[in-house]
Amino acid sequence: MSPVVRVVLAIAIVSGVAAFVRSMSSDSGAASGSTEPPRFTSSKQCAECHREVFDEWQGSHHQIAYENPEVRKLSDDFRNKECQACHLPRPISQTGLLNRTLPRVTRPDEGVDCLACHLDVNGRVVGRNASDLGCAPVADAEHMGVNLCGTCHNQHETTDQWRASRYAKEGITCNDCHMPKVTRADGSIGRRHVYEGCHDEETLRSAATFEVTREGGELVLAVTNTGAGHNFPTEERHRAVDILVRFVDEAGTPTEWEHLYRFRQPYRDEPQINTQLPADARHESRVDVPDDAVRAEARLWYRLNPYATDDDPASTLLFEREVELR
Ligand code: HEC
Ligand code: HEC
Ligand code: HEC
Ligand code: HEC
Ligand code: HEC
Repeated sequence: MSPVVRVVLAIAIVSGVAAFVRSMSSDSGAASGSTEPPRFTSSKQCAECHREVFDEWQGSHHQIAYENPEVRKLSDDFRNKECQACHLPRPISQTGLLNRTLPRVTRPDEGVDCLACHLDVNGRVVGRNASDLGCAPVADAEHMGVNLCGTCHNQHETTDQWRASRYAKEGITCNDCHMPKVTRADGSIGRRHVYEGCHDEETLRSAATFEVTREGGELVLAVTNTGAGHNFPTEERHRAVDILVRFVDEAGTPTEWEHLYRFRQPYRDEPQINTQLPADARHESRVDVPDDAVRAEARLWYRLNPYATDDDPASTLLFEREVELR
């Protein structure tokens, strides 16, 4: 080997090693002058440049998905390995949209993380818009759409329920309700990453209306799904919504609360009557008004599980109505 060839070879090896080291040293996150897109191994790297998004996601049910005590309890502390696939997933692109995700074993504090939703098969960031800047994202509208959510959220048919609704026909997607637009510090329009759902009272109250009226000798209690783009309540079979009523007589003495109706998807071992309220649907319960009643009081309760009593923190009083009967 001539000395010149030897020097060229040595330079090639050194720069090759340098490029390799650069591509492996993912801690910096940013593309440090190399033309290769940066490699990402943790959501914390994204925080460097997408602080606001990171802060929204931090504390969200996606972030806590693996540490959530409710989930740990039911999964026997994840000794049930089946539960890990959606609560601590690898990037969805590894298995493809609408296929069961694979579990990961790293970063339990990151649950459903940035990488799960935003990395493609080559480890590049996927977004709505491509850019040469920063993480050098590629654009993939399909990957950012409803099927991304459906990959984990169709287990209890939420995506199918949405597809059957007016919202799907009008092109109002999961993200239009669950990722509302926000103005970022630099003035750009972003999408909120908190994903408010049934743990947020305001979102819950936006799902339905509760009207109570008297029709002759009957009290009519109507619930209409006016704001959920799928069944209400949706997802987990243990969610429930209850209509309760009581009557008060002249002396001010109330009757016991009477349970009139429950909206719920039953567990698999229960009689299979799904009473969830589809998008835009209305349900009416009717009850006879007692002769001595001067007032009716009605309540609509949301329950995170079907066993929760009214004073349980898993119950939220959505609406309270009073109707004068005299
Ligand atoms: C070195 C800074 C930097 C890091 C680190 C970084 N990004 Fe970016 N990211 C940018 C810049 C700059 C853009 C392009 C301009 C914009 O859209 O804000 C961008 C764009 C995006 C987009 C596309 C936005 C759109 O309009 O569709 C997504 C999605 C995204 N980044 C996600 C991530 C994720 C997830 C991570 C971590 C895995 C990450 N980024 C890490 C700087 C960074
Ligand atoms: C196919 C994906 C998938 C698998 C597998 C999965 N989950 Fe979930 N899980 C979800 C989604 C999506 C939600 C959010 C919907 C909801 O909250 O109703 C959720 C929510 C939950 C919640 C509600 C958390 C809360 O704070 O109310 C519990 C509890 C739970 N899962 C337990 C489990 C257990 C136990 C297993 C294993 C037997 C499991 N999950 C397997 C997707 C999955
Ligand atoms: C990798 C699986 C996965 C993907 C993809 C996913 N989610 Fe989730 N999502 C979950 C899990 C798991 C939970 C429940 C975590 C918990 O409560 O512990 C959840 C919870 C939620 C909640 C309920 C929050 C609450 O208060 O209970 C909403 C709303 C939600 N996701 C919306 C979406 C939307 C919209 C998309 C699509 C952009 C999406 N998710 C994509 C797994 C996923
Ligand atoms: C028109 C607005 C709207 C659209 C569209 C919509 N949602 Fe919702 N979503 C709501 C409201 C309101 C609630 C609260 C009531 C409830 O839990 O049913 C909710 C609740 C949820 C929850 C929480 C359920 C739980 O038990 O934790 C999840 C998960 C969810 N939606 C996922 C989705 C997915 C996935 C899509 C798209 C396929 C979608 N949503 C489309 C309004 C919407
Ligand atoms: C459950 C899936 C999911 C998770 C988890 C998630 N994203 Fe997103 N993200 C999306 C979707 C879907 C969009 C596109 C919304 C749209 O435009 O319809 C988006 C949009 C963005 C955008 C462009 C809009 C904006 O708000 O600036 C950035 C940047 C981004 N994500 C970064 C992140 C980072 C960083 C994390 C982790 C802290 C993260 N995302 C976690 C699904 C997710």
